[in-house]
Amino acid sequence: MTARIVGIGAYVPETIVTNHDLANIVETSDEWIYSRTGIKERRISVKEETSDLAAEAARRALEHAGIKPAELDLIVLGTSSPDCNYPSGACEVQAKIGAVNAVAFDVSAACAGFIFALNIVQGFFKAGIYQNALIIGAETLSKVTNWEDRSTCVLFGDGAGAAVLKNDDCGVIDMLMGSDGTMGDFLKCKSRTLGNLLTEERPELGFTEMNGQEVFRFAVKRVPESIETLMKRNQMSKEEIKYYVLHQANERIIEAAARRLKEPMEKFPMTISKYGNTSTASIPLLLDDMLKKGMLKQGDKIILSGFGAGMTWGAVLLEWCI
Ligand code: UT7
Repeated sequence: MTARIVGIGAYVPETIVTNHDLANIVETSDEWIYSRTGIKERRISVKEETSDLAAEAARRALEHAGIKPAELDLIVLGTSSPDCNYPSGACEVQAKIGAVNAVAFDVSAACAGFIFALNIVQGFFKAGIYQNALIIGAETLSKVTNWEDRSTCVLFGDGAGAAVLKNDDCGVIDMLMGSDGTMGDFLKCKSRTLGNLLTEERPELGFTEMNGQEVFRFAVKRVPESIETLMKRNQMSKEEIKYYVLHQANERIIEAAARRLKEPMEKFPMTISKYGNTSTASIPLLLDDMLKKGMLKQGDKIILSGFGAGMTWGAVLLEWCI
């Protein structure tokens, strides 16, 4: 048995912040941002928290799947920007959508969070423990962005995407995940610093800090490597893969991956220009976009691939069975 995607949903906040808007607050330009990243604009949340975005994406995915919230056994939310330290975002979503019979928890794997969530569900399904699951990638990274740091504030955006999964006989074919904590400093957002009754300092909140070039180098190596591993392991030729659905971090990373795989850019759909890097939400947002454009057909083989802070990475080979 395996995880079959039976519904996809997405939701982004309505406020659009363009590169030109950002050029008014930091020393940057539309030309610099677009040529280095492929980003034109991003959505920024004004009122909605991560769990609000996640719950709306979840409702849409459930509607698409034709499944009622009460039928869900499991909710796994990938996020690095939850509303609270506790309760988990997944529990908040459970309450918001009325998934009264589900067990719910978050997974922290940064931009690889959606892939990790999918693979966790796959494990439960293979063990026969659950039948219907909801996975979500949702972020309000805008709240952990240093809006004075031009090297990071131009990259990220807010949004959410979700998938409903059924334990079935068609869907995920193979998957892999990896982590390397020794690279943790490449991309980091510290939580509240230590500060308590025994310390002189008061707690401070951290913001996203990044060594962009190291992350770039890591991504252009790991992404094609994991895709090739999955193809080799399953004796799958490049011709059999319809699309590579990559985490939308930077158009140049996607182009570099395509070059290494010797595959044409048409097989790498993108939403980066309109949403920026939405971390764990980027893969389901892209799947939703592809679905709306009629790009995904029953029987298509696709590979999803995500990477992010940790460093973490993961990839999934699946057959589209909606
Ligand atoms: O989900 C994973 C998240 N992270 C990533 O995927 C990040 C991966 N890395 C990248 O995408 C790229 O490294 C960046 C887009 C972040 C940066 O591009 P780069 O080509 O590596 O630029 P750089 O860091 O080498 O900076 C080049 C120059 C520097 O100026 P000097 O030192 O050459 O004078 C920067 O200060 O560009 C400057 N710069 C900017 N200029 C205008 C950095 N940010 C900006 C900016 N606007 N926003």
